[in-house]
Amino acid sequence: MRLTDCHNYQDFRKLAKKRLPSPIFHYIDGAADDERTYNRNTAAFDDVDLVPNVLAGVENVDLSTTIFGKKIDMPLFCAPTALQRLFHHDGERAVARAAEKYGTMFGVSSLGTVSVEEINEITNTPTMFQFYFHKDRGLNDNLLERAKAAKFDVLALTVDTITGGNRERDLRTGFTIPPKLTPASMLSFVTHPMWGINYLTKPKFRLPHLEDYVSAGTNVNTSIGSYFSNMLDQSMNWNDAENLCAQWDGHFALKGVMSVEDAKRAVDIGCTGIMVSNHGGRQLDGGRAPFDQLAEIVDAVGDKIDVICEGGIQRGTHVLKALSLGAKACSGGRLYLYALAAAGQAGVELALGQYRAELERDMKLMGCTSVDQLTPSNLRFR
Ligand SMILES: Cc1cc2nc3c(=O)[nH]c(=O)nc-3n(C[C@H](O)[C@H](O)[C@H](O)COP(=O)(O)O)c2cc1C
Repeated sequence: MRLTDCHNYQDFRKLAKKRLPSPIFHYIDGAADDERTYNRNTAAFDDVDLVPNVLAGVENVDLSTTIFGKKIDMPLFCAPTALQRLFHHDGERAVARAAEKYGTMFGVSSLGTVSVEEINEITNTPTMFQFYFHKDRGLNDNLLERAKAAKFDVLALTVDTITGGNRERDLRTGFTIPPKLTPASMLSFVTHPMWGINYLTKPKFRLPHLEDYVSAGTNVNTSIGSYFSNMLDQSMNWNDAENLCAQWDGHFALKGVMSVEDAKRAVDIGCTGIMVSNHGGRQLDGGRAPFDQLAEIVDAVGDKIDVICEGGIQRGTHVLKALSLGAKACSGGRLYLYALAAAGQAGVELALGQYRAELERDMKLMGCTSVDQLTPSNLRFR
């Protein structure tokens, strides 16, 4: 199987599985507990059908939308994800450049493997910095100052990771950062020699936002679950979020809001957006899917802040359904991570290009020429 065989999400997933040692693949592909929420995130879109209108004159379609005060060329962007250097040796550089090519936003994780300074140098595309609230206040201040100095457009405080999710695939494979060989994973690393050669010969795996403050994850192997449980501040509360929002003094989002009550409080503390998300099902299994919860949240706060719907998106039609319910845009992780693992920048460009083409085609088939024409009247729930 090659890149040219990849026509959709599942094809990229298959190629990523072929290219990556299994602990790394399962880190991307897995989720919490029984993965019920993970599966529901995508299945939720099937409970709703699109109702198209015809004869609408659709030769020119404008896919652009404005989020956090920035116009992006399509209503889908790359959510911040950790450790991209493990998936492809170019890591975040590849994703940033591909996002720029398609004029969309790109998120960098606190656990990113390319620095915010370098991202600022190599791209002009709108950027989001994902903030993990650590116990170490010096580290928190440093993260914020660096993201600000590197001219990031949005700060997104992740609020659904107050402790590590129970990712049983990672327990089985022994996945750690940096990766280490275990008896269970040895065969998989040996049978993926290209990954191993690139890992050893290309620029070293680093966590440039954290390495001056913590050894876990850079010099000391740690599981991702224990990183969250030990390093992040479980006392984080609304006052902390409000202070961070004021300190950032720019576009600010809470990432991982699921209740109407929290969405309203996000407005009260000064957020300009929220990401309705359950972290791709990687945290609370049994939690509701973002798409299932979207209408309630849009009803409550959709006229006050930007509501982003995130998780489970595998098709352009999933995005159109979320926009019809009032999301300003959607974002996704695995939808570009499998492509990154499959072929670096070329892979992410191909995937984003396919989403763009799918969105344009589906808009035409829906009889819409701009995303604000999508409304709940385009949908029927089964
Ligand atoms: C491999 C991987 C790493 C992730 N790392 C982070 C992270 O560092 N910070 C964060 O806020 N969310 C992280 N996420 C969650 C994504 O930002 C996003 O919420 C999720 O991927 C959406 O679900 P989807 O993958 O089904 O699109 C990660 C997700 C994946 C798959």
